[in-house]
Amino acid sequence: MLGNALQTICIGIDEGKITVLGKDLEGDRVIDLSRYFIMPGGVDIHTHMREPGMEHKEDFDTGTMAAAFGGTTTILDMPNTIPPVTTPGSIDDKLNTISGKANVDYGVYAALMPGADIIELKKRACGFKLFMAETTSAQPLVDDEMRELLAHPELAGEVIAVHAEDPSLFQEGEAQSLPDHDSSRPVMAETSAVDKVLNMPTQATLHLAHLTCLVSFDKALEYSTEATPHHLFLSSSYHLGTLGKVNPPLRNMKAQASLFSAFVRGRVGIVASDHAPHTLEEKDQPFGKAPSGLPGVETRIPLLLGMVRSEQVSLGLIQATCCHDPATLFGMKKGHIEVGYDADLAVYDLKDVTRIQGDKLHSKCGWTPFENYNAIFPKYVMLGGEMILSENELIIKGKGKTI
Ligand code: DOR
Ligand code: ZN
Repeated sequence: MLGNALQTICIGIDEGKITVLGKDLEGDRVIDLSRYFIMPGGVDIHTHMREPGMEHKEDFDTGTMAAAFGGTTTILDMPNTIPPVTTPGSIDDKLNTISGKANVDYGVYAALMPGADIIELKKRACGFKLFMAETTSAQPLVDDEMRELLAHPELAGEVIAVHAEDPSLFQEGEAQSLPDHDSSRPVMAETSAVDKVLNMPTQATLHLAHLTCLVSFDKALEYSTEATPHHLFLSSSYHLGTLGKVNPPLRNMKAQASLFSAFVRGRVGIVASDHAPHTLEEKDQPFGKAPSGLPGVETRIPLLLGMVRSEQVSLGLIQATCCHDPATLFGMKKGHIEVGYDADLAVYDLKDVTRIQGDKLHSKCGWTPFENYNAIFPKYVMLGGEMILSENELIIKGKGKTI
C-alpha cells in the first residue's frame, strides 16, 4: 500500500532501506509476493516489555517476538520496570541487558522524575514518560513537580508521553468489578488531567497516551493523541473480570462505541497497544488485588485488519494510525513504503481471516482479552530488508536494534 492507494509495485531494497519503487525492477534476489497485501511494518510506541525485573510476565525476546508475529517491527518500551528507568545509569543497564535479545527494532523511554538528568537521558532515550497517576510500578508526579519539569528548556522538541489521570478525582475504596473500576478512576479524572497538563508551559512535544473519551480528544486537538485497541473494542460491561482491569479503565458501552466511531472518522490519532502483560496467576485474584494491564502488541494490527471487511475500518486508516503517524511523531525513517525509509514490511493474505487464540500467541503471559476475535496475521515480516518471519515461524532471531 503506497500512501492511501493499493498498487501492484516492486519494492527495491538495498542495505536495509527502500531504494526504489517501480513497475518492473530487477535485482540480485527477487521475492514474488504479488498475491499478498504489503504494509509497512507496524510501529507500536506504547509497550511494557517488563525487562528488567518482571521477566516472569514478559522479556525482550518474548515481547518482541509477539510484536513480529503481529506485523509490528518497531516497539518503544515504557520505563516502569524494576528498577524504573529514571537515570542515565539505569537506562545504560537496561540497554546492555536487552542488547541482542530483541526480535524487532526498539527504543526505550525514560521516566520524567524530579531531578532527572535530562541532558544525559535524552541522549539515550527515545522519549520521556510522565505518569500523573499511580499504576503498575510507577510513581506519579504532583502538579508542581510536573510544571517545573515540563518547563525545562532541555526538553524542547522531545516527545513526552503522558499518562493522563488526575488522582485527586479517584474514588476511595477498592473496586470490585469493571464498572466499579471505571467509576473509581472516572472519565472526569482523565479530562481534568488533560486540562492540567495542556495548561503547563513546555517546549516539549506532548503525546497524550491511551485516551478513553471523546472530550479528551476534543481538548487535545492540537496535540498528538493515542487510543488503544482495548478501549476501542472492549467495554466495562464485557465479562472479562480482572482480565479487563487496566488503567485508564475500560469505559461503558456507549463511551466505547463513540470512541470507535471517532476512530473510524480518523479522530483518535495513533493506535498503540499499551501491551502490559501480567500472568494469569496474578490476574486470578480478587478484583481489587489483581494488577492492571493487558497484553496487545501481537493483536493490534491483526485485529484491525480483521475488521476491514465487516466494519468501516479502511486499510489506509490502519496504516496511518499504526505505522505512518507513530513513526513520524518520533522522527523515525520507518512506517512508510517510500524511498529512503527502512525496509520493514509486513505481508498479509487479506483472505486469511483467523480467530485469535491466547494460547497460540507469543507473549509469555499466554492470554488475550480478544479471545476468538477475527484477525489477519502476517505471512511474512521483513526487518531492515531481511525476512525475519516466514509462514508462522520466526526464522531470524535477535536482529532488532535500537532506533
Ligand atoms: O493498566 C496499566 N498497566 N496501566 C498502566 O499505565 C501501566 C500498565 C502496566 O505496566 O502494567
Ligand atoms: Zn502503558
